[in-house]
Amino acid sequence: MEEKTVDDSRVDAVFSVLPEDTNIYGNLFGGKLVEWIDRTAAIVAVRHSRKNVVTANIDNLSFLEPIKLGDIVILKAWINYVGNTSMEVQVDVYNEKRSNGRLVLACRAFITYVAIDENGKPSPVPRLLIRNEEERNRYNQALERKEQRLRMKRQI
Ligand SMILES: CC(C)(COP(=O)(O)OP(=O)(O)OC[C@H]1O[C@@H](n2cnc3c(N)ncnc32)[C@H](O)[C@@H]1OP(=O)(O)O)[C@@H](O)C(=O)NCCC(=O)NCCS
Repeated sequence: MEEKTVDDSRVDAVFSVLPEDTNIYGNLFGGKLVEWIDRTAAIVAVRHSRKNVVTANIDNLSFLEPIKLGDIVILKAWINYVGNTSMEVQVDVYNEKRSNGRLVLACRAFITYVAIDENGKPSPVPRLLIRNEEERNRYNQALERKEQRLRMKRQI
């Protein structure tokens, strides 16, 4: 089976917060941010697998910093873990301060995608080639999260 690195599928996306993205107080809708996260992370999963993917799970999301009308939002997305057919993608969302360009972490998300075949059945994906200690740690932490998600799924 083919192997790919984390860098082979990494995505950086940038959005500007427009009036239609905000509520009456000028804050970015949480649901809009989730849409941006899912769309960006799905590209990572498609780049890794080169297959159709479906979202199997989005972990609990914490919105750490408000994002306002006119803000510049940067989403950095990469793959942490690859199983047989599933992939965990992490998305770190930053608010880029217009005044000085400083990046403030506004949200962190972990999303699991499953590659599917033409019948909608899970389909194997390339293995992840781990190249350093940081990637190893992320892989191991993602594996723990996967086991937790599957435990929760069994409880539903
Ligand atoms: C996701 C889906 C394909 C999994 O199908 P399934 O028959 O339950 O698959 P399996 O039990 O064989 O598991 C396949 C893989 O998915 C993973 N998985 C399944 N459910 C999961 C969940 N809730 N969270 C995390 N991983 C999950 C399994 O761990 C397995 O990973 P692995 O092959 O890397 O070990 C199926 O549940 C589905 O189609 N769900 C709807 C997806 C959807 O419509 N999303 C929203 C729109 S895109």
